Amino acid sequence: MSPFRVTRTLPEDTTGAALRADVLSGLTSSPKTLPPKWFYDARGSELFDRITTLPEYYPTRAEREILLDRAPEIAAATGARTLVELGSGSSDKTRHLLDALVDLRAYVPVDVSGSALEQAGAALLAERPELSVHALIADFTGAFALPDAPGPRLIAFLGGTIGNLLPEERAAFLGAVRSLMAPGDALLLGTDLVKDEETLVAAYDDAAGVTAAFNKNVLTVINRELGGDFDPDDFAHAAVWDAEREWIEMRLRARTGVTVKIPAVGLAVDFAAGEELRTEVSAKFREDGVRAELAAAGLERTHWWTDRAGRFALSLSSVR
Ligand code: AVJ
Repeated sequence: MSPFRVTRTLPEDTTGAALRADVLSGLTSSPKTLPPKWFYDARGSELFDRITTLPEYYPTRAEREILLDRAPEIAAATGARTLVELGSGSSDKTRHLLDALVDLRAYVPVDVSGSALEQAGAALLAERPELSVHALIADFTGAFALPDAPGPRLIAFLGGTIGNLLPEERAAFLGAVRSLMAPGDALLLGTDLVKDEETLVAAYDDAAGVTAAFNKNVLTVINRELGGDFDPDDFAHAAVWDAEREWIEMRLRARTGVTVKIPAVGLAVDFAAGEELRTEVSAKFREDGVRAELAAAGLERTHWWTDRAGRFALSLSSVR
């Protein structure tokens, strides 16, 4: 039996305090916003898993195709003995990578959700009992330290989740990741790519309404955690392509004028009819832009791979 350790760097009550702070600032600003991380309670995570299987939502399949094709190249290029996975969630796609990394000794999944880490860690150890798994409960958008683990280390940030960060936040995040890396370490970054508006909007506004339910779930989270009285039926799901900033925005649009009480933060929030609450930015990228953002953080991109249809990309970078 190899060790399965879990290190918590987030206090147990962090979630409540952070959610209150985000709700207070986001719902009192104009336009109203909420950060996308609050989608992912148990039901939200389940809805996201369903999104990844929708015909319209191509990113997961496109990234899996690249990983399947390129995992041996990634393994050869990095010689990684430790895989650090940021925002690992259920660690499903990572399996291709783990299987290909022949020198791997340690796996360090990092996620804010302890339950996701426990499940993924246990499942992995059943298959790879020789691996040392050190799960880290941490918010990777804030400061965190990595446990001692043998180098070279491969840090993977997959799924296109970096697109949830605004440009300044991305720069700060990539800089922080760079500062965790030693010479010989590598970063594997997944980015969804700019493409035609119709494809993009459909991916975030599917015919079966799963993304709409996922979007509205954030209201249910606020109701449960903060005693709010949102009626999700008062809001309509919207996915909008911002062609200038090249990102998709998910919004919740008030169908009528409505006032929502949120006792835990002492708010009564007025929505005018048609007013929109921005719940997510999902930025889409171009090859040159990704290279430039990596370079600005002190990372040199050594490989760029896309799926055969050119919808999604993986970048491999090393410390310059
Ligand atoms: C998990 C952040 C990559 O932005 O595509 C899916 C989340 N939002 N459908 C994305 C999401 C709506 C997803 N990421």
